[in-house]
Amino acid sequence: MIHDPNKVYIFDTTLRDGEQVPGCQLDTNQKIEIAKELELLGVDIIEAGFPISSPGDFQSVVELSKAIKEPTICALTRAIRGDIDVAADSLKYAKHPRIHTGIGASDMHIKYKFNSTREKILERAVDAVKYAKTFVEDIEFYAEDAGRADNAYLAQMVEAVIAAGATVVNIPDTNGYCLPDEYGAKIKYLKDHVKNIDQAIISVHCHNDLGLATANSISGIINGARQIECTINGIGERAGNTALEEVAMVIKTHNLGLHTNINSKQFTYISGMVSRMMRMPVQPNKAIIGKNAFAHSSGIHQDGFLKHRENYEIINPEDVGLNSADIILTARSGRHALKHHLQRLGYDSEKIHIDEVYERFLTLADEKLDITDDDLLSLMSNGEASSIKNGYNISYLQVICGDENIASATVKLEVDGKTTEATAKGNGPVDATINAIKSLTNEDTKLTEFTIQSMHKGSDDVSKVNMRVDYGGKSFIGYGFSTDIVKASANAYLDAINKFL
Ligand code: KIV
Ligand code: ZN
Repeated sequence: MIHDPNKVYIFDTTLRDGEQVPGCQLDTNQKIEIAKELELLGVDIIEAGFPISSPGDFQSVVELSKAIKEPTICALTRAIRGDIDVAADSLKYAKHPRIHTGIGASDMHIKYKFNSTREKILERAVDAVKYAKTFVEDIEFYAEDAGRADNAYLAQMVEAVIAAGATVVNIPDTNGYCLPDEYGAKIKYLKDHVKNIDQAIISVHCHNDLGLATANSISGIINGARQIECTINGIGERAGNTALEEVAMVIKTHNLGLHTNINSKQFTYISGMVSRMMRMPVQPNKAIIGKNAFAHSSGIHQDGFLKHRENYEIINPEDVGLNSADIILTARSGRHALKHHLQRLGYDSEKIHIDEVYERFLTLADEKLDITDDDLLSLMSNGEASSIKNGYNISYLQVICGDENIASATVKLEVDGKTTEATAKGNGPVDATINAIKSLTNEDTKLTEFTIQSMHKGSDDVSKVNMRVDYGGKSFIGYGFSTDIVKASANAYLDAINKFL
C-alpha cells in the first residue's frame, strides 16, 4: 500500500485503553454507537478491544467488525499464540482487520514482568508477529514501556519484527515517563538506525502521567512517526492517554506540513457522548472540548477579544462543533423544531422516539426557560447512556434544609411496580436524600466520588452529577441530571446502584 508521507493516521483506542478505566465499562451496543461516531469523525483505525480478556470484549470486536466499514478494526493481544488465535477469530467479519501484538521492551519489564532475557523476549516478539501474519496482513507490534527501553535494543527489536512482517511499529511511553525531546529523539533514533524502517509506519502511544502525552505525541510525529494512538477526552487508565481532539487540533492549527482525516466539527458532540456513556465528566478547563475552553472572562481579555477575535482565540469554536447560537428552543417549540435540532446534533431521525423525547423536553422546558445544545444532549443521554433500564426509580422527593433546619428528605422509590417511602436526616439535602434511599435499598454502599457540574449558565441551569459508588469491592459509576441538584444527585446515585442490584 502506498502511504501519503504527510498523512498522520489516527488510531483511536477509546474502546480499549480508554475503557480500561475502572467503572467506565461499556456494553457492546454502546461501543457500536461510539464506533459509528468515530467513523464519522474520520479516524483511520479503531482499537475495538482485547478479545482474550473477556467474552464481552470478544463479542464487542465481532460486532464492531460487522458494523464498521471504513476504518481498520484492530484487536489487541499479548505475544501469546492463544491470544492471537482468539483475536483472529474475533476479527473474522472485519473489512480491514489488524492484529496488535507485542511485549515489554524495557529491561524493567523484561526482568520484573517476564523474568526473562533480552534474547528470549526478542524471539517471542518475532514469533508473535510471524504467527499473527498467518491470519491477517496488517500487523501492528507494540514494544511495551519503550519510553524507558534502551534505544539500541529497541531498534534491534523493531528491525526484527518488521522483518517478520509488522506493518506498524508502536513505541509506547506506557508510563508517561518521557520528556518531549527525549521521546522525539527516540523516534528519530529508530528512523536513523533501523535498516528496514521504511517498510513500516511508526506509531506513538503516549500516556499522560506527567501531563506530557500530547507534547510527546507531537514530538514523535515531528521526528517521523505517522500514526498517533489516542482517545476521546484523553480518557484512559491513571492520568489517561493522549487526547485525540488535542493532537488533531495541533496538527490543524500549526503548519507542520502534516494532516489528518479528522472532521473536527464532530468533537463537541463525540466528546459529550463519550463523557456521558462512560460517566467521566470533562474538566471545565480541558483543552478544545472543556466548557471553559472558549470562555473569556477577564476584563482585559474580553476587551481584546471584542476588538479582534484572534487577539485571544487561536481556534474558531465552530471548528470544533460549538454552536455560537446558544439558545435554541423553548417550551413553545414543537416536535418538528426539536427533531430538527436533534438531527443537527447528529442524532439519527429514524431512531428518535420523538413523542417520548418531546415529553421529556417539555418537562425540562417548563423548569428551564431556554433549552441549549448541552441541555438537549443531556436529555438524550437519558436514553443512550444507561444500559440498565430496570431497577429503582424515584417517584417523589421532598427536602427541607437551610439555616433553621437540619436537612431532611422524604423519598418514594419504585421498583417492580411497588412503591416504598422513607424519611432521613443528613448534613445537607443531598446527604439526607442518599440516607433515605439507603434506608430503602438496604445495601452497604460507600459514595467515593461526587461531582456536580452546571451545563451552562444561570441559576435555572441543568446540573450534571457524576458519582462513584463502591459496593462489594467494586466501583460503579452513576450519572444524573436535572435543574434540581438534589434530584440530579439522587438520579446519579440510583443509576450507580441499579448497576449492581
Ligand atoms: O500503554 C501501553 O503500552 C499499551 C500497549 C498495550 C499498547 O497500551
Ligand atoms: Zn496504553
